[in-house]
Amino acid sequence: MLPDLLKEQVRSLYETNLPAISRLENILCLLFESSGQINWAGLYLYDQKSGTCYLGPFFGKPACMEIKPSKGVIGYAIDQNRNITVADVLSFPGHIACDAASRSECVILLRKKDGSLIGVLDVDALCENFFLAEDQSLLEDISKFIEKLTGCIIL
Ligand code: SME
Repeated sequence: MLPDLLKEQVRSLYETNLPAISRLENILCLLFESSGQINWAGLYLYDQKSGTCYLGPFFGKPACMEIKPSKGVIGYAIDQNRNITVADVLSFPGHIACDAASRSECVILLRKKDGSLIGVLDVDALCENFFLAEDQSLLEDISKFIEKLTGCIIL
């Protein structure tokens, strides 16, 4: 389970008002380091024109740089227009295994103020069933800060 403290830590990093990329990197690092079970934490940026997602800032093993529409858990979350927790990625048809050690995953959609999609937060864990409902909810809360900073990154 992710520590509750994460939300306040992310808030204080966000409130430093230093450059967006500096805050974003530290927030993602904090998330990556928040549990020994997290093996990947980062962003994919959404290209409105092509519907493709491109790799953004992250912590973890090198990952695929391009995710075409409807591909993987990320494409599925976008198609469904909702945040997705996958308890067992090995049972998810079409899961894209950037790190073969990943066993569960949570994808949170990131939006601009007008509601349009700008990217996703993707977090992977080493064990099945890592992300409980409270964890998805916590990731949704911290995504409110992450999406404001993501809006400053040019694709
Ligand atoms: N597993 C994702 C791809 C991104 S990596 O996990 C970093 C997916 O199936 O969409």
